Amino acid sequence: MTTWATPAQIQSAAETLVRGELVAFATETVYGLGADASNPEAVAKIFAAKGRPSDHPVIVHVADAQAASVWVSEVSESAQVLMDAFWPGPLTLILPKADWVPSQVSGGQSTIGVRCPSHPVAQALLTEFSEQLIQVRGAENVRAVGIAAPSANRYGQVSPTQAAHVEQEFAELVAAGMPILAGGDSEFGIESTIVDLSRMDQGGSPALLRPGSLGRAVIEEVLGQPVLGQDAQAPRVPGSVKAHYAPRTPMRLWDAQALPQAIEDWLKQYGAGQLAVVASAVECEHLQAVLGSQSRVQCFAMPNHPQAYAQVLYAQLRALDALQMTTIYWANVPATEDWLAIRDRLQRAGAAFETEQSI
Ligand code: TXA
Ligand code: MG
Repeated sequence: MTTWATPAQIQSAAETLVRGELVAFATETVYGLGADASNPEAVAKIFAAKGRPSDHPVIVHVADAQAASVWVSEVSESAQVLMDAFWPGPLTLILPKADWVPSQVSGGQSTIGVRCPSHPVAQALLTEFSEQLIQVRGAENVRAVGIAAPSANRYGQVSPTQAAHVEQEFAELVAAGMPILAGGDSEFGIESTIVDLSRMDQGGSPALLRPGSLGRAVIEEVLGQPVLGQDAQAPRVPGSVKAHYAPRTPMRLWDAQALPQAIEDWLKQYGAGQLAVVASAVECEHLQAVLGSQSRVQCFAMPNHPQAYAQVLYAQLRALDALQMTTIYWANVPATEDWLAIRDRLQRAGAAFETEQSI
């Protein structure tokens, strides 16, 4: 159990944001790398730190629906309904942006992603940041308050769910004084669900741009209409590039029933080295029975429920990287809606290595 950021640390981090510098902070999904969203130079520092292409928009984190309304051109009825039902919480809404919003935040697009995090540390930071901005600049000069924050990892790498992960990702920045506001292990463990509502005023449908812990079914129920999948016209979501969330160790996905044969083949192909196998506890037990005392294969058991699985997924990927195994073989999760977000992350993690024939 790590300790949480103190009020003094939160206050000092808010000062850092007001100065236009970066702050990493806990949220209920993953840790974020934040900057004052109304300050283009500060936002540019996020892109530089992550090594992220500048045409990829960042999410703006706000204290509540009221604060979100200033960043968007209009809070539509559908948006209001979803904000009322799920904010604060792990839901990002894509809406047409307000005219004044700097293009660095929207990645040059006409839309903006807004999210109201529920984590008390993120909420406290937003409150403190707002108060300090008003104090320093004067209320009449503060049009909108928001913290632009992607996940606090290098571009394409595994998202952080613990303060220690952020330290691993950005050791130099932390050494140079970047604060990390700790808030324990992230409750959900994977990034927020992203729903695009930006095309509804032209008769378009809501679309699920990134699956997350908040499932499509509950969103549809509250909206009273279907939420479609990604389509060609949907706003671009770089988290949706095919290879993403990748570990450094070559990783491949297998259906569980194909694993015993795949492992046998791997052992034949690789005369030396260690294979990590990640599967459910039952699958691990079965493999152990088949493999006997094979010391070159180590099985790691994952939880049986999607929520518990999501919570430990990224930490497991990082732990495996730290063990420096030769290869990771990962058992697919069920192809059902409740596993959708996890399947999505696993497929992207594995996609980074798809062209490597040998794994
Ligand atoms: O849970 C989360 O959402 C975390 C925490 C820190 O809040 N943040 C996060 O940010 O995952 P990031 O930048 O790693 O992913 C944000 C995703 C990106 O895929 C980005 O393209 C998409 O949201 N996004 C942001 N603004 C957008 C916009 N205007 N249109 C389309 N996609 C957008
Ligand atoms: Mg990310």
